[in-house]
Amino acid sequence: MTDVAPRRVLLAMTGASGAVYGLRVLEELLKVERLEVHFTLSESAAKVLRVEHDMKVNLERFDPRALGLKKAARLVYHHHANVAAAPASGSFRIGAMAIVPCSMACAGKLAHGVGGDLIERAAEVMLKEKRPLVLVPRETPLSAIHLENLAKLAMLGVTVMPAAPGFYGKPQTIADLVDFVVARVLDHLSVEHGLGPRWGEGQKAKRKT
Ligand SMILES: Cc1cc2nc3c(=O)[nH]c(=O)nc-3n(C[C@H](O)[C@H](O)[C@H](O)COP(=O)(O)O)c2cc1C
Repeated sequence: MTDVAPRRVLLAMTGASGAVYGLRVLEELLKVERLEVHFTLSESAAKVLRVEHDMKVNLERFDPRALGLKKAARLVYHHHANVAAAPASGSFRIGAMAIVPCSMACAGKLAHGVGGDLIERAAEVMLKEKRPLVLVPRETPLSAIHLENLAKLAMLGVTVMPAAPGFYGKPQTIADLVDFVVARVLDHLSVEHGLGPRWGEGQKAKRKT
């Protein structure tokens, strides 16, 4: 049963390329009023943030300013190794979870139920509690093992949403491409946002003018 309203959302970042997707999802979640945003990231995610954004994140003494965030009052940070943190239990009601970006290593562990850290444990909880879980994998090309793992997760009800932006909205910037994916993630977390025109709606607006 998915009767839990997403007043609480959990975002995890793992060590796939495309940290910008996770950063943008986090920014947008923090704009939503009365939404408690739980956040965790793996050591590899911190490495990728350093490579891709020159961001130095201290996982032990997390400071949201390291991610360029100014206002983060509703951000609840959890160390990825803290398997005693609230999201590790099904009794803690998380409305929806996203792993953005999601490494193939993380997807593989989830598909085989062998998670060790809080990210994998929390995702496992979403699966067993039948709550919404969104993965944004980023890898190319995909091996048969990757495809098999992602297919297994999809069949278990996970929303597998590859970081593959569409071009029909005529994106002008990298930010447009990133936000295409971010908007779809927020949709699947049932979080309101104002990112980009939706197909059909933008066209209607154009016809009116
Ligand atoms: C700069 C960098 C980019 C990476 N890009 C990817 C990627 O796009 N996809 C992926 O599955 N793994 C990628 N990796 C490898 C993962 O970080 C590695 O498999 C790691 O063990 C994942 O750990 P985690 O799932 O705990 O974050 C990358 C690693 C680095 C350092």
